[in-house]
Amino acid sequence: MQEAVLRLASETVDVVIKTHPFAEILYWGPHLRHFSPQDVATLSRPIANGRLDVDSPVTLMAELAHGLFGAPGIEGHRQGLDGSPRFRTVAVSQQGQTLTLTAEDDTAGLRLTSEIALDDSGVLAIRHGLTNLKSQPWQVDRLAVTLPLAECAREVMAFHGRWIREFQPHRLLLEHDSFVIENRRGRSSHEHFPALISGTPGFSEMHGDVWGVHLGWSGNHRLRAEAKTDGRRYLQAEALYLPGEMAVAEGETLWTPYLYASYSNQGLNGMSQQFHRYLRSNIIRFPENKPRPVHLNTWEGIYFNHDPEYIMRMADEAASLGVERFIIDDGWFKGRNDDHAALGDWYLDEQKYPNGLTPVINHVKSLGMEFGIWVEPEMINPDSDLYRAHPDWVLALPGYEQATGRHQWVLNLNIPAAFNYLLERMSWLLGEHAVDYVKWDMNRELVQPGHNGRAAADAQTRQFYRLLDTLGERFPHVEFESCSSGGGRIDYEVLTRCHRFWASDNNDALERNTIQRGMSYFFPPEVMGAHIGHHKCHATFRQHSIAFRGLTALFGHMGLELDPLAVDEQEREGYRHYAALHKQWREVIHHGTQWRVDMPDSTTLAQGIVSQDQRQGLFIVSQLAMPDYTLMMPLRMPGLAANAQYRITLLDHPNIRLTGEGGHTMRKLPAWMETPQTVSGEWLMQAGLALPVLDPETAILIGVERV
Ligand code: GLA
Repeated sequence: MQEAVLRLASETVDVVIKTHPFAEILYWGPHLRHFSPQDVATLSRPIANGRLDVDSPVTLMAELAHGLFGAPGIEGHRQGLDGSPRFRTVAVSQQGQTLTLTAEDDTAGLRLTSEIALDDSGVLAIRHGLTNLKSQPWQVDRLAVTLPLAECAREVMAFHGRWIREFQPHRLLLEHDSFVIENRRGRSSHEHFPALISGTPGFSEMHGDVWGVHLGWSGNHRLRAEAKTDGRRYLQAEALYLPGEMAVAEGETLWTPYLYASYSNQGLNGMSQQFHRYLRSNIIRFPENKPRPVHLNTWEGIYFNHDPEYIMRMADEAASLGVERFIIDDGWFKGRNDDHAALGDWYLDEQKYPNGLTPVINHVKSLGMEFGIWVEPEMINPDSDLYRAHPDWVLALPGYEQATGRHQWVLNLNIPAAFNYLLERMSWLLGEHAVDYVKWDMNRELVQPGHNGRAAADAQTRQFYRLLDTLGERFPHVEFESCSSGGGRIDYEVLTRCHRFWASDNNDALERNTIQRGMSYFFPPEVMGAHIGHHKCHATFRQHSIAFRGLTALFGHMGLELDPLAVDEQEREGYRHYAALHKQWREVIHHGTQWRVDMPDSTTLAQGIVSQDQRQGLFIVSQLAMPDYTLMMPLRMPGLAANAQYRITLLDHPNIRLTGEGGHTMRKLPAWMETPQTVSGEWLMQAGLALPVLDPETAILIGVERV
C-alpha cells in the first residue's frame, strides 16, 4: 500500500496527515512555508525499552489496538465480539482543503469515514462516520474525534458554570493523565460548555500557542485533554452515549458531531478571531442581510401578566426608545399564568387576548418594529391539557417516576404524533401570525430520557434539530434564538439553525461582564443576546447605574429586558442613549475583529473591536471591583494599523467624581480626557493610553478613528 503524506494549508495553520497504512495526524500548527512531504521522516519515533517492540501511533481514530494505552477514540462491540477494531486506509481523496479518508477493518466488519476540512480562517472541522458492515448491530459505547497536540501544550483552560453564571473559565497544568469534562444534562449545558483549550503554560489573550476545540452538539458530551505516559498529548471530544443508547445496524453510518479546532500562536485572541471568522463565513446565516435589530423582551418587565392594552403601550414606549424588535415572552398561551401549568398547550390564551394576537402584532408593526414571541416546545407540564390527553408522551423510562424541573417534564419527540403535534402548533403560530422572531426556550434537563424502554437522549437531540430544521424550511424568514434557562444550549450545531443566543438569565452587569467575556472565546458579538435589565437586577438584586448596564450590553446583540413604562424619565433617557450608541457602532461591533486585552489587574476587564478596514475601533474598560493598584495601567489597544493616526474620543464614561479633595479615588483626569489627542496606531498598541481611576462597577468607552 502506498505511503502518502497530505497537507491541508491555510494562511495561518497547517495540518499534515500520513494516510497509509493507517491515518495519523503528524502536525497541527503554524502554516509551513517550506514544507515537503518527505520532511515527516524526521518524526519517526524510537522504540523505548520496557514497552511494545513496535511503534504505537496516536492514529486518527486512536484505536487501542495499536498499543495506544490512552483513552481510545472508539469503544464498542457486537455482543462482546468485534470489540477492538484496527482500521487500514482503503481510500483517500482531497478536494481543495478537504480530505476524506476511508478505512476499514474487515475482521470487525466496520468502516470508518473521516472528513477533515481546513477553512481559510484556520479552523479545522473534523468528523468521523462509523459504518457497520456485518448483519448484527454494533453497539457503540464511544465514538470520538482525537486531535494530537504539540507536547508543549501543558496548560488546559475550560469553562465551568451554572444557571445565571455561564462561561466561567478555569485553568490547570496537566502534567499526567487526563482532564475530562462530562455532560449528561441533555443540552450543551450551563455547567460544561463543550470546549477545551490547551496551550503553552501561561498563554494569555495576546501571547502563547493555543489549541482550542469546540464540539458542535447540543446534547450529552465528553471532552478530554490527555497527557500520555510517553509525553504525547491529545484532545478528544465526542457525543456521550448513555448505556445501551447507541447501536449501528448493518449498512448504517453513525456520524460524530463536528469538532471545530482553532490553533493560534497569537494567544487566545488569535484562536477566537479564527473561530469568529469561521462562524461568519460558514455557520451564521441571517435570513436577511440587515443590521441586528435592538430588542425589547417583555419577560422581566411583566412576566406572566399579559394585558394586550398594556403591552401595546409598552410597545409605543419601546419604539420611542429606539427599539426595533418587540418580543412577547412567556405567558401568552392558554392557562399560562405562572410556571406551574400549560406548557404543551400551544393555543392562544383567549382570556388574556380576547381579540387574538393580531391586533398586538399589527400595533407593533405599525410602530416600525418586528414582532417576536417566546415558545418552549419540547416541554410539558403535568398540569396541561396535553398531558391529560397524552400522558405517554413524556420522555421517560417505564416503571420510574420522573422528577419535574420547573414543574415540567420533557416531551418525547421520538413519538411521531408528539413531533407532528408540535410541528402543527408551531406552524399555526408562525403561519397564522406575522412573527419575525422566535425565542425558543428549553428549561429542563433530561433525566432518564427513554424511548421504547431505551435511553434516548441522543435521539431527542436529533429530533429537536429536525423540528427546528423543518420549521426553518417552512418559515425561512423567521429568526430563532436558542435559549435554555439562559445559556444552557449554546453550540455551533444549534447555531446552524438559529440566529442568536440568550447568553444568560442574569442581566446583572457585573456578572454579565464575565459571562460575556467567556462566551466571546467562541462566539462573535452579533449572536450574543445582551440586554439592559432593571436598575435592580432581578437575578441578584444588585443595583447598577444605567451607564454600567448600558455599556455592558453594548458589545453584543443589544436589547432591553424590562418594562419601559415602569421607570422614570432619567432611566428611559439612558435606554434611548445606549440604544442609539449601539446603533451608531453596531456595524463595527457586528463585523469587526474582537480583542480581549490582557490587563495586569484581574479586577479590570478590557476589550475592543476594530473594524475590518482598521478605520475605527471601540474599546471598553470595565472595572469589576476595587482596583488592586492606585493607578490603572495604560490600555494598549491591539489591532490598529501601526502607521495610521487615530483620534481618540471619550464616548461614554461613568459620572467620575473629582472632588479635588481626599476621600475619593481620583483628583485629576488623564490629560487626553480633557484635551483631545491624535496619535499613531503603533503608539496606542505598544505604549497605550492612560486610564482614569475607575470606581468599582463602572465602565468607560473609548473610540478611536483614523484621521
Ligand atoms: C427561561 C428563560 C427566560 C424567560 C423564562 C420564561 O427562564 O431563560 O429568559 O424566557 O424562561 O418562562
